This record gives sequence, structure tokens and C-alpha cells, in this order.
Amino acid sequence: MSRQVSEHITRALDLIASKTLADETRIGAAFPYVTKPDGSWDTMSVAVSAGYTGKDWSHGNWFCGFWVGLLLTSYLHTGDEKYLKLAKDRMVLVEERAGDGNTHDIGFIFLSSAMPLFRITGDERYRAIGLRAADKLRSRLVVTDKGAYVSSWGPMTDPRGRAASAIDTMANIPLLYWAGKQADDASFRLAAEAHAQMTMLSFNRPDNTQFHAVEYDTMTGDRLRGYTFQGAHDDSYWSRGTGWAVMGLTVSAANSGKVSYLEQAIAISEKWFDALGDKVVPPYDFDSSDDDAPEDSSASAIMAAGLLDLADLHPDKATAEFWRGKAEWLIKGLCEDYLATEDGHRGILMHGCYSEPHKIGPDAAVMFGDYFFAEALVRIAFPGKFIEKYERLT
Ligand code: GLY
Repeated sequence: MSRQVSEHITRALDLIASKTLADETRIGAAFPYVTKPDGSWDTMSVAVSAGYTGKDWSHGNWFCGFWVGLLLTSYLHTGDEKYLKLAKDRMVLVEERAGDGNTHDIGFIFLSSAMPLFRITGDERYRAIGLRAADKLRSRLVVTDKGAYVSSWGPMTDPRGRAASAIDTMANIPLLYWAGKQADDASFRLAAEAHAQMTMLSFNRPDNTQFHAVEYDTMTGDRLRGYTFQGAHDDSYWSRGTGWAVMGLTVSAANSGKVSYLEQAIAISEKWFDALGDKVVPPYDFDSSDDDAPEDSSASAIMAAGLLDLADLHPDKATAEFWRGKAEWLIKGLCEDYLATEDGHRGILMHGCYSEPHKIGPDAAVMFGDYFFAEALVRIAFPGKFIEKYERLT
């Protein structure tokens, strides 16, 4: 059972445990990703990989691991073995994607499933799956004259795949750092850190906002263009991207010992909170000109999870406490105003936005928002039990 934690956190974890269990039997072999307007989950087969249809890119199923992660957070919260059993059974389906060479999202899939399953059970089988996936992710490294980056979208045989990089990749690289430690192989860490450096150089604008995506010259490493896929326009400030970057920077600090990554994470977080103003949840894009632009609660959940890392790591106690306070404030606000407590709404957080331009879940619960919200909650309720805990830097 949970330790003594704030009531809103316990209530949210109760909700996650009860909805996840009820939906586990309803969704069949597929995996949920966004809620439909009637509140039920839309699902996708685990086998749907990412790819191009003509010029159009589709991310495919990059969220199947998050469902395993939700089952595991519910196991930690309730202590009920049935959640662990369900997570292991689902993992058998998710494992199929460990050799997927089409997308950087292989990081998301396995850092939310194999990594916590190994941490919780100590079973070597999950470590091996995570390492296999990390090997594929590392093979996406493109080495240029300016540095190296992990490419995001498409097989490496496709020139579009080699040239593309997305801010989201920053949140995929924790799988590489984990693999580096597990396999005692520095090449994983070197690839991840090179990616973090090149991303901050090429994506971060002088005002500390970020491009969603960058097309590189694969030889020189020059940025050919910054653009967007899920944001309002190519030069806009997509609100989910900053949280992804904070996650990549904090894990880079943890694995390199360099506090400078935390300082970068702070600079971009300050900008994000300035843009947020007195709200808890931002619009899906801070630069949307639409007065009715949908909100994205997942952006706040992701930011909160990243800031908890920052707070765990920062050597200055006052700075660490300040950012922990920001993370807890976001979580409390999400618990108070964004929890989908109605039974008919099967998600956890209302008002997430998967992709406004594509009109996919533009105002819905989104699986990645629910997962990172749950991750942040168990980080507070069960420190160190779900994912690796990093030592404070000096
Ligand atoms: N593909 C990651 C995202 O939608 O944020």
C-alpha cells in the first residue's frame, strides 16, 4: 500500500488502478492511445509500426509500453499481484517491437515497460529486452561534422529518416543511458550525450523556445530547416516539446555528472512557466493564433515528471526545492481540475492533445500524458521503486 502521501496523489493513483484494471479486459489485444469523443479508448494493434505513406508520416503505435507502465504503477500502489501478472502478459505482446528499426519511439516503448519491469522484478528477461531495444535505438545515430544525433522518423535506409530529428527524441534517450549502465558499454552513453548536445544546439532558439523538428544535412550536421509536425506552424512553440527536452537534459546530467545540463533545463523551464502564466495547463502550442486552441494536459504531466528528476539531481538545495515545488504544483493542479473522474471517460487526464493539425485526439486523454502523470505520482509516493533514482550531483 502507499506510504503516507498527500490525499490528491493517493486519489489519483486509486483512479488509475481502478480504470486500468477495468479496461484491461475491455481493450482486447490492442493498446489504448486516445479517448474518443464518447470517452471510450481508441486502440491500436501493437504491430503497427511507424512509416511513410507517400509523403505522410505516421508515428504508428508508440504508446504500447505506456500501458504496461500504468499496470506497474498500479502494482506499486496497490501491492496487488494481479497488476504485475497483467503487465508481464502485456509485455509479451510489446516485446515484438524490440527489433523495430523504423522509429526513435522504440525508446518510449521500452523505457516505460521493460525498464520498470526489470527494476521491479529483477528478472533478466526484461533487461535483455530493454538492451535489444536500446541497441536498435543506438543504431539510429547519425554522425556528422558538427556532432551526432539520433534520427527520429523512418528507417535509416530512407533519407528522410536519416535527416529527421525531433525534440521528442530527448525523452527516448533515457533508454540509451540505462543500457550503457546495464551493459557496461559507454557507447550508449556517448550516443545519448552527443544527441543531447546537438539537439540543444540545433533546436533551442535564442529565446529558449524550441523547434519541434529539425531536418539536418546528414554530412555537415547543418540545420537545413526547423519545422513542426504537431505544432501550430514551423516556427511555433509547441508546448509538449519543452518537457521532452527537460527529460533528456536531466538524464544527461545524471549520467555525465555535468550540472550544465541542469542549468539548460532550468533556462527552458523558466521560459515555459513564463508562457504558461497562471494556468496549470498550456494550449497545445503557445503560438497558436486560435483563441479556442485545445489545451494539452500531457505537456504539464511530462513537465512535472522531468522537473522531479531535476529536483532530485540539482546540487543546490534551494534550487532543487524550488523546482520540486513547481512539479508538485503542476501535479496538484492536474489532480484538482483535470482528472477524468467520470466513469464514462476512460482516460486519466482530460484535455490532452495528441495532434491538433491532424485532428487526432485534439481534446482527449492521451496515453503518454496518463503514463507520465502516473510516473510522476509514483515517483513521489514510492521514491526509487519504479525507475532508477539518481544521486544528487556535486
Ligand atoms: N511523438 C511524441 C509526441 O507526440 O509528443
